[in-house]
Amino acid sequence: MKIILLLSTLFNITIARRISCHACLNSICYKRATILKGHKFSGQLAIDRNSNVLYFHYQNNRSRDFTGAFDLDKVKFSFVPNLGFTFGHAVDQSTKDLYASGTKGIYKYNPKENKTELFALKEKTIWHMQFDDKLYYTEFQKKGLYTYINKNSKIIPELSEHQIDDFIVDKKGDIYFMSNYTIHVFRKGAKSPVLFEDEIYSLTTDKDGNAYFIQPYTRGIYNVNYRSKKLNEVGAFGKASAFKLVFDGDNHIIYYDVTNKNLFYLSPTLNICSVGTRGKHRKMFIATTSRSYKNHKKNNLSSIKNITEII
Ligand SMILES: *[C@@H]1O[C@H](CO)[C@@H](O)[C@H](O)[C@H]1NC(C)=O
Ligand SMILES: *[C@@H]1O[C@H](CO)[C@@H](O)[C@H](O)[C@H]1NC(C)=O
Ligand SMILES: *[C@@H]1O[C@H](CO)[C@@H](O)[C@H](O)[C@H]1NC(C)=O
Ligand SMILES: *[C@@H]1O[C@H](CO)[C@@H](O)[C@H](O)[C@H]1NC(C)=O
Ligand SMILES: *[C@@H]1O[C@H](CO)[C@@H](O)[C@H](O)[C@H]1NC(C)=O
Repeated sequence: MKIILLLSTLFNITIARRISCHACLNSICYKRATILKGHKFSGQLAIDRNSNVLYFHYQNNRSRDFTGAFDLDKVKFSFVPNLGFTFGHAVDQSTKDLYASGTKGIYKYNPKENKTELFALKEKTIWHMQFDDKLYYTEFQKKGLYTYINKNSKIIPELSEHQIDDFIVDKKGDIYFMSNYTIHVFRKGAKSPVLFEDEIYSLTTDKDGNAYFIQPYTRGIYNVNYRSKKLNEVGAFGKASAFKLVFDGDNHIIYYDVTNKNLFYLSPTLNICSVGTRGKHRKMFIATTSRSYKNHKKNNLSSIKNITEII
C-alpha cells in the first residue's frame, strides 16, 4: 500500500512537471507565442535582423490584402504603405530596405522614410527573392535564377534549365534550391548543380547564413554540417506543418503554420527534450522529460521577447 502510494505520488509529480514542447531543437524545449492569429498568408517571410522587424503578406477575413511589418523588439505592428498583395520578400540587411514583389514588379520600401516605390521589373511576376550582397530572384512559373544589380537582370547560366520553387544562398555563397520536388546545390565556383536531397524541404538561412531545411511532412528541421556537407538533424516541431520560417537577429525562430494560419515566435525554455520517429514514414515526435537545464549556456534567456497576439 505504501509503495503504491509512493509510486503514484512520484507518477503525479512526473505528470505535473511534464511540459509540452512546441519544438525541440538541440535537445532544448521551445515554447511558442502567437504573433498573428487566423490570417491567411502567402509568399515569403522576411526579416530586418538589425531592428528585428518582420515583413509578411496576409489577407484579412474580408479577403483584403495587406503587407505588414511587425517590430519584435517594440512588439508593434504597422502597415507597409502602398503595398497590398505581395509575394516575394527580401531585406537588404545593410540598408534595412525591404524588396517586395507584387502581381507585377518589385517594390522597395524604405523603413526610415516609411516610403514605398516601384523598384524594378514592372512587367514581370517575381516568385522568390533573397538579398545576399545582391538581390536574387526567380520568376513565377519560369525557369532560372537571376541576380539584379545596377538596373540589370542577369541569369545564372548554370541554373537556366531548372524550374526553381524555393532557393537560399548560404554563408559560403552556395545556392540550395528546390526543383522537381528535390533539393539541389550549386556550390560557388562549381560547373553545375548537383542533387543534394531527394525530398521536399522548405529552405531558410539563420542570421549567420547557415543553411536550414524543414521537412514539412515529418516536421524535422536540419542544417548543413559544413564539414561532411550532409544534413545534420537539429530537432523537430510539435504539431505544426507546412512551414515558412525565418531566424531573427537573436537567431530565434519565427514560423507560420499553414494548418491553423498562425504566426509564432519560438523561445527556449529551461527544459530538455528528445526527438523520436515513428511509423514507416518516420514522422517525428517530441518526448519531453521533467529534467531541466538550470545553467544551460546556449540558452540566453535575456534576449527572449514578450510577444502577445497583435491582430
Ligand atoms: C472579421 O474580423 C472582424 C474583426 O476581427 C470581426 O469583428 C468579424 O466578426 C470577422 N468576420 C468574420 C466573417 O469572421
Ligand atoms: C507608415 O505609413 C503607413 C501609412 O500611412 C502607416 O499606416 C504606418 O503606421 C507607418 N509606419 C510607421 C512605422 O510609421
Ligand atoms: C523529375 O523527376 C522525375 C523522377 O524523379 C523524372 O522522371 C523527371 O524527368 C524529372 N523532371 C524534370 C523536368 O527534370
Ligand atoms: C544575451 O542576450 C543579450 C541581449 O540580446 C546580449 O546583450 C548578451 O550579450 C547575451 N549574452 C550572451 C552570454 O550571449
Ligand atoms: C509580458 O507582457 C504581459 C502583457 O503585456 C505582462 O503582463 C507580463 O508581465 C510581461 N512579462 C514579462 C516577463 O515581461
